[in-house]
Amino acid sequence: MSRQARALINLDAIRANYRLARAQSPQSRAIAIVKANAYGHGAAAVARALAPEVEAFGVACIEEAIELREAGIEQPVLLLEGVFEAQELVQCIALNFWTALHSEFQIDQIAALPENAALTVWLKMDSGMHRLGIAPNNYRAAYDRLTALPQVKEVVLMSHFACADELDNDTTVRQIEAFRKAAADIEAPVSLSNSPATLGWPEAHQDILRPGLMLYGASPYVCDNAESVRLQPAMSLLSEVIAVREIEADESVGYAATWTAEKTSRIGTVAMGYGDGYPRHARNGTPVLVDGHRTCIAGRVSMDMITIDLTDLPNAGVGSTVEFFGESLSVNEVAGYADTIPYTLMTCLTGRIPRIYSGE
Ligand SMILES: Cc1ncc(COP(=O)(O)O)c(C=O)c1O
Repeated sequence: MSRQARALINLDAIRANYRLARAQSPQSRAIAIVKANAYGHGAAAVARALAPEVEAFGVACIEEAIELREAGIEQPVLLLEGVFEAQELVQCIALNFWTALHSEFQIDQIAALPENAALTVWLKMDSGMHRLGIAPNNYRAAYDRLTALPQVKEVVLMSHFACADELDNDTTVRQIEAFRKAAADIEAPVSLSNSPATLGWPEAHQDILRPGLMLYGASPYVCDNAESVRLQPAMSLLSEVIAVREIEADESVGYAATWTAEKTSRIGTVAMGYGDGYPRHARNGTPVLVDGHRTCIAGRVSMDMITIDLTDLPNAGVGSTVEFFGESLSVNEVAGYADTIPYTLMTCLTGRIPRIYSGE
């Protein structure tokens, strides 16, 4: 590897974060969400690291589930977005995938399968997010239709929260209430909690947790709570300084000349850019660490390079290590400077960034 842009992935941190999820609700089970290439961390490597202690994994779609099987993962895999065409149900049966069911027409698709299908279905309720799921008024009827089918072995009840990351937002309370009311007399396992609900809404824990983001050590909140501070960052996005120059006051740096020196300044150029997935809209002043010392971006992020202010770091130079986020610089803090969330910073890293694992 000559270009030093890379992501170090700490699999021990991911294991510790999974255990932290479990510890929030020891009586619950917890499936590990590894969709979108395990939020950029590498689905196969993450699933292999968690396999000895995780009962099942969650992904968005069947292609992601097949990738896990090809990586040797034997646990059931839940398709959170369900199947996109009826034919995929045949693969669910053959490969032991569980499917979310979000619309009534999908019950007919299951009814058309061979009777010995033995399918596990996660029946999704739209308890207020209005994205996917059966309306509360129709939920009981959908459950009854499903459980009457010989093709169905088990039904899990699920819903998803719109605002669980805001701990003072009573939308979550209303969603829990809507779910409880509509599922009141159904005897089946219940799964409601994503990361923010796992770490901050104990009343939502129920039978099966579905943590995603927290496994990777990023906080699901803008302001941490007592549990989220215990998360261990799993990904460090690193590169190094490849060139240094001095510029005079009033000279500017980079495309569109968005940063202008107020005094004589040292500018470092780092091998990292939006072609690697670092956000182009990270603004001037976005923090970075150079050999552990804090400084910031100076000039617009370009495709392959980022310029940073080294004026106050006289010992930094070509070859200095730059951390863009990770173990020593919070991905949540950096996300704020790019008007985004930690989910996108990690998920959008491109294939050009080698993932280097520790804790295998
Ligand atoms: C249905 C469902 N469950 C669980 C998760 C995991 O959420 P988080 O990454 O916030 O833990 C997601 C992620 O979007 C989801 O769509």
